[in-house]
Amino acid sequence: MNYASWLFLGVFLTFAASWVALVFIPNEQLKGLQSQRDEITGELHPAPFSGEEERGMRVYVANGCVYCHSQQVRGGDWNADLERGWGSRRSHPKDYIYDVPQQLGTMRTGPDLSNIGVRQPSAEWHYRHLYDPEITSPGSNMPPHPFLFEKRKITGARAPDALKLEGEWAVEQGWEVVPKPGARDLVKYLQRLDQSYEIED
Ligand code: HEC
Repeated sequence: MNYASWLFLGVFLTFAASWVALVFIPNEQLKGLQSQRDEITGELHPAPFSGEEERGMRVYVANGCVYCHSQQVRGGDWNADLERGWGSRRSHPKDYIYDVPQQLGTMRTGPDLSNIGVRQPSAEWHYRHLYDPEITSPGSNMPPHPFLFEKRKITGARAPDALKLEGEWAVEQGWEVVPKPGARDLVKYLQRLDQSYEIED
């Protein structure tokens, strides 16, 4: 064989080996994963996305939440993530079978959100935190997202999910701040983030 053929063969084998190791073998290991049904409650874990949750995931992607938040509880010798209270077990590939695209993330400017639905189930808390994180978490450096909300004049009764804003956030008498559909969907998505079920292998 001449020099060019050896070179070609070398390049080909390098790419083929990476493809086998990084694409083929992981795909073989993961392709049979399915959600599991809880024998007592009958619920599926993980559950397929509802329409609202799916739209909420897009709001999560569009606003770049992944740049500051991971969604993976790591194991390892020290179990630091478990000690921080970010989960009751390390994440498992099964947790992500419905997530397209997966929002694993690498940055942890803010806490890991794999189990935020368990840690913080209250929609009201999430609305106020998204509107301005300083309301619920003084000193937070998470950016406020007021554009996910609408300030409007109260006509008739106050909206049931209008934000309870006090002090420096209070709005004028006769006005209210309500979540836009995107904020509602985003909170439904955050509430579904729950890896607390036990994995059956
Ligand atoms: C610039 C970095 C940054 C971005 C972008 C960001 N966050 Fe945060 N987030 C933080 C920090 C820091 C905290 C911790 C302080 C706090 O609670 O506000 C936090 C806290 C949170 C918490 C509470 C976590 C807990 O354990 O109590 C939630 C929920 C959250 N963020 C959701 C989001 C969502 C949804 C988005 C996208 C719309 C987002 N964050 C975008 C930095 C960020």
